[in-house]
Amino acid sequence: MAEESQPREGAQDEGPASAGTTGPHTVVPTLAHLVQKTARRFESAGIGDARLEADLIWTTALGIDRAALYSAFRDTPPDDAVRRAEALCERRLNREPVAYLMGTREFYGLPIAVGPGVLIPRPETETVVEETLRLVEGVASPVLADVGCGSGAIAVALAVARPEAIVYALDVAARALELTGHNAASHGVSDRLHVLESDLLAALPRPVHAVAANLPYVMSDEIPLLEPEVSRYEPREALDGGVDGLALIRRLLAEAGGRLLPGGALVLEMAPRQIAAASDAAAACFPEAVVHAARDLSGRERVLVVQAERR
Ligand SMILES: C[S@@+](CC[C@H](N)C(=O)[O-])C[C@H]1O[C@@H](n2cnc3c(N)ncnc32)[C@H](O)[C@@H]1O
Repeated sequence: MAEESQPREGAQDEGPASAGTTGPHTVVPTLAHLVQKTARRFESAGIGDARLEADLIWTTALGIDRAALYSAFRDTPPDDAVRRAEALCERRLNREPVAYLMGTREFYGLPIAVGPGVLIPRPETETVVEETLRLVEGVASPVLADVGCGSGAIAVALAVARPEAIVYALDVAARALELTGHNAASHGVSDRLHVLESDLLAALPRPVHAVAANLPYVMSDEIPLLEPEVSRYEPREALDGGVDGLALIRRLLAEAGGRLLPGGALVLEMAPRQIAAASDAAAACFPEAVVHAARDLSGRERVLVVQAERR
């Protein structure tokens, strides 16, 4: 939807685009007016992207997409939708992430269902998917694992991109396993995507060509300092990587030997400042491996790729 089709700032004061009249004394607010009002409340509360988020609140309340929202700007929304939007707006003002309110987040071009109890997939994690796909480009029927699958974003993206792949999605959290199963079904890959309750790789039934992992990597002390959307709403078990953030990544490196097929690889997301320490840990666990860092969409080293020797 082009920018120019959105109402301009202050459009609520400009007559028909903002308020419909049903008679000489009744002025009914139009959708344009209500969306602007929500955006102003978000702006005053210091919520970034206030206008975009106001649009998303109203598309969710009305059950329509953004194109339909803009087309309906001169209409008056039904009372029940106004009530739903108000409830969603209050939750957002309490800093609940908009993805939890909408119940979905786009990842690697796919709508992924999300909700409280699982991490909302981040754009930088798409680098994990890209690197994993690149590593198995030449493999006819790759066998892959996504450890710490959360919503299943990585596992589902891999299974959709490679229709002949078998993917194992592993997590310790029941809600994560449930949502991964749901997302696998809604993208039609349940027959090839196996969801397993597992502490890291413990339940993985066979060696794989690649292990992709976005495990928790925030330093424990830093969690309270994160923005409230993250620190208050996203699950601590999805964030907390211990004292230096690398506790689970180190353990995975130590336990991954024997889980990879010859020439197989680990593709590990982490914070850019953790890359050096994780590279050292990888070299200690896989002395013959080729280790390199891949950059995320904003150009920062974000993903460590550890490719085992081809025996
Ligand atoms: C940062 S979230 C990533 C979720 C998802 N992969 C994504 O990128 O959006 C980390 C996930 O690792 C899971 N996790 C934490 N400790 C684990 C462990 N020991 N074994 C398996 N999964 C674990 C958490 O439950 C959480 O779902």
